[in-house]
Amino acid sequence: MRSNEIREKFLEYFKKNGHAVRSSSSLVPDDPSVLLTTAGMQQFKRYYTGELDAEKDFGSLSTVSIQKCFRTSDIDEVGDESHLTFFEMLGNFSFGGYFKKEAIRYGFEFITGVMELTIEAVTVFDPAKVPDGDWRKNGVPFDEESYVIWREIFAENGISVDKVKREGVDNFWGPTGTEGPCGPTTEIYVKSVEGKSIEVWNIVFNEFYRDSAMKLTKLPTPGVDTGMGLERLAMLSQNVPTIFDTDLFTDLIGDVLEQVSIFDLMLPRAKRIVLDHLRAIIFLIADGVRPSNKEAEYILRRLMRRVIVYEYLTNDSFLEIFLHRIIKKYNNIHQKFDESVILSVWHEENSKFLKTVQNGIKELNRMSTIDAQSAFKLYESSGLPYEAIKEFGGNKAGTLTRDAFDKEFKKHQEISRAGVAKKFGGHGLILDTGELKAGSEEEQKKVTRLHTATHLLHQALRDVLGGGVGQMGSDITPERTRFDFTFSRKMTDEEKKKVEGIVNQKIAEDLEVRFEEMSKEEAERTGALHFFKEKYPERVKVYYVAPKGKGIETAYSKEFCGGPHVTHTGEIGQFRIAKEEAVGAGTRRIRGVLA
Ligand code: ALA
Repeated sequence: MRSNEIREKFLEYFKKNGHAVRSSSSLVPDDPSVLLTTAGMQQFKRYYTGELDAEKDFGSLSTVSIQKCFRTSDIDEVGDESHLTFFEMLGNFSFGGYFKKEAIRYGFEFITGVMELTIEAVTVFDPAKVPDGDWRKNGVPFDEESYVIWREIFAENGISVDKVKREGVDNFWGPTGTEGPCGPTTEIYVKSVEGKSIEVWNIVFNEFYRDSAMKLTKLPTPGVDTGMGLERLAMLSQNVPTIFDTDLFTDLIGDVLEQVSIFDLMLPRAKRIVLDHLRAIIFLIADGVRPSNKEAEYILRRLMRRVIVYEYLTNDSFLEIFLHRIIKKYNNIHQKFDESVILSVWHEENSKFLKTVQNGIKELNRMSTIDAQSAFKLYESSGLPYEAIKEFGGNKAGTLTRDAFDKEFKKHQEISRAGVAKKFGGHGLILDTGELKAGSEEEQKKVTRLHTATHLLHQALRDVLGGGVGQMGSDITPERTRFDFTFSRKMTDEEKKKVEGIVNQKIAEDLEVRFEEMSKEEAERTGALHFFKEKYPERVKVYYVAPKGKGIETAYSKEFCGGPHVTHTGEIGQFRIAKEEAVGAGTRRIRGVLA
């Protein structure tokens, strides 16, 4: 079955069974605890918790969708036969409507009846298979109900009941983001044309809510959340050995190979990476992400730079040909693409990056071996990303791994005190940058808001009291920011009012907060403020607060800083100076709070 037909058949089957058809939500979710949409259930999280009412919003307690998804966790696996960053997830959902019996029967009927595939095995959750101490073990019983249902169905259909297996941690779905609905799963496996057992469908029974301290509580009404990768299902249905042999990808290569002859000569792994990443790039740009240096924007930049490196290596140009073909094949499936926007974002990043690549490669060619340390040094001095070092380094970089590189990266961030978020699975502090401290997600949000307010305060103090004001220290807890600065006398009430007024004005303007990474010298040239007593590493981040879409040169505030910050000043709320006092000669201290 071709992919278009699979999409139609899936929606049709569940519609016929009373599900409201919902379109995919954006790849950028409106849930601050998640960077990008990783599952179909993302847009329905609040229906499982009972905050929203599905009956009222959809006219049904169950829905069906084909969701655009992106998983960063798989970036480094891309290139084998079944991993992707961007993919489409087929899913059916129930919010206190039907439960295990129906969900399992739907799964069986769709796979065997509609898709005409043979089930190789199914798995159900058994805590006996979960290691002691794992959060999934706490009070979650063996899913006997699913076990019995599957055995009944198999017996009715002449399938060996031994194909119902018990599994551990793989059969418990954790929440998207730090907290959310979760529960035991049952998974359906189908044999590939090469005889491998492929997990095709994950059916989750959302019976619990996991909070940020990893504690499970029972949800008042249990729900169903399922996910099946379109690409994998197409691979099984089309009897091909890899997802890249399905029409979803082969149509892109087409039969005009003369135009992409160099591409044709590339290794399969490289080709797959190019096709996967280009699809993801188009969908991310179409959903409003722009390449930059933080969060989702940084992921997009990484994908773009990696494929640009491939093209550069071959000294050919095939990427644009594929961009056009992907846009054509996927246009109007989830949304209408604006080709000119996608291409202009592409061109801009492409030319920026090529300059970096040329300088970095010269340096790389002079090196004899490349380990994590020297790779990181090269990255610091040239900006050449890990992917490019790995790719261009060839044998010299044979033992270099992303893990080791990332470790090096972290080490340097920590040395800089400029702050890096440390997450300790919900125990003790979850954030401790030296300057910011938080013990929970809730507190983390508060200190993050106060942190951006502190940057605005710093600049506002300079506006009102003059450029002699410099930061001497700062300490932020969920209750307040405490900011020490050089100034020789008590501030007047009028000066305090003025400073507060400026900060609140910048909050009201809802400016964007972004960062750029650059060499220390460059950062100093931008005029970014920094902490007097601090020693900074060779490469630093500069956080700046500027009007939407405008560059660092238009920024109201710029500082050397490691984050975290809010993305828009509008998130901060009302700022107030609670106290202004002396702390030693020539140094004042402000306590600022948010309403
Ligand atoms: N949310 C489940 C998954 O993504 C269905 O596998």
